Amino acid sequence: MFILGIETSCDDTCAAVLKDGQILSNIISSQIDLHQKWGGVVPDIAKRAHQERIMPVIETALKRAKIKIEDIDLIAVTKGPGLSIALSVGLNTAKELAKKYDKEIIAVNHVEGHILSNFLTNSLGKPIRPFLFPSLALTVSGGHTKIVLVNDIGDYQVVGETLDDAAGEALDKSAKLLGLGYPGGPVIERISAKGDDTFLKLPSPIADKKILDYSFSGLKTAFYYQIKDWPTEKINKHLSDLAASFQTAVFSTLIRKYSLAIEKYHPKSLLVSGGVAANLTLRKRIRALAKSYHLPLYLPFKKELNTDNAAMIALVAYYHFKKGESSLVKNLDIDPRAEL
Ligand code: KG4
Ligand code: ZN
Repeated sequence: MFILGIETSCDDTCAAVLKDGQILSNIISSQIDLHQKWGGVVPDIAKRAHQERIMPVIETALKRAKIKIEDIDLIAVTKGPGLSIALSVGLNTAKELAKKYDKEIIAVNHVEGHILSNFLTNSLGKPIRPFLFPSLALTVSGGHTKIVLVNDIGDYQVVGETLDDAAGEALDKSAKLLGLGYPGGPVIERISAKGDDTFLKLPSPIADKKILDYSFSGLKTAFYYQIKDWPTEKINKHLSDLAASFQTAVFSTLIRKYSLAIEKYHPKSLLVSGGVAANLTLRKRIRALAKSYHLPLYLPFKKELNTDNAAMIALVAYYHFKKGESSLVKNLDIDPRAEL
């Protein structure tokens, strides 16, 4: 079965083709260059860029997969959460194609896409990743930070989530404060490598061990107050130390609540994904955590499958279709604040 996936929830224009759940093509057109000078995603600019790029991106995905649109069995498109005007471009394109070529559509939750991105495989079906449910998923990106108990495909329980900023958003905002540009996560990762992460003492948000939720805005504020009166030369001199301190504070918070959740829910496996999970330091810490609990850990098998992509959206549709869930096919409105 061939599925065409479409994803336009934020600032990446994406299309992918999957055959029986395996990736044949996965095209991502990043808009970072357009938003960089504004220090964040500008919705109107994102919308226009999605409109210009979506058809060429879909055509490239089909071409790479060596398939014609007529041979696609199903179109999968992100319905939310995300930016309304960006989501509309993907959904409208999916509807137009579905009408023109008489195809069915499945509208997919973006966060479910990130969770299932851990099960993506290449065209040879590798890596082999059996379901080991219940799983505990940690999804960390620019828009969301959630710990989700996955009982089965489609059976999700959010057991912890951020009460304010997402982890990626916190990294992006602190990078902006340090004048490092957008998106902050990758820059912070790069310059942290040379820094002393004990340089700045930062708080551990929500110390209560019974609470599995996150909060990153206090961390960001504490960071801001510690350096706000510093002269620029001092900030520049300690840029790596500041970046490393902030990054470690964010990652330690992520790990702390995730381990509490592991102890509470006793999962059979761990799933970690989302843009921030592309970070090698975080991956190393997560690997050590999984090892300490003797739990199998699945991370997306390629770096670009951590950040937004359409292969994960198509995979969600594949699993739901296999379960015979036709109700998903019917609801084709965008849902910018969609819950899992
Ligand atoms: O999953 P994603 O592409 O989009 C959302 O759904 O939000 O995640 C983007 C976020 C941004 O905040 C970005 O700074 C962060 O992921 N990010 C990283 C890295 N690469 C992207 N954070 C830390 N280290 C990275 N290498
Ligand atoms: Zn995302």
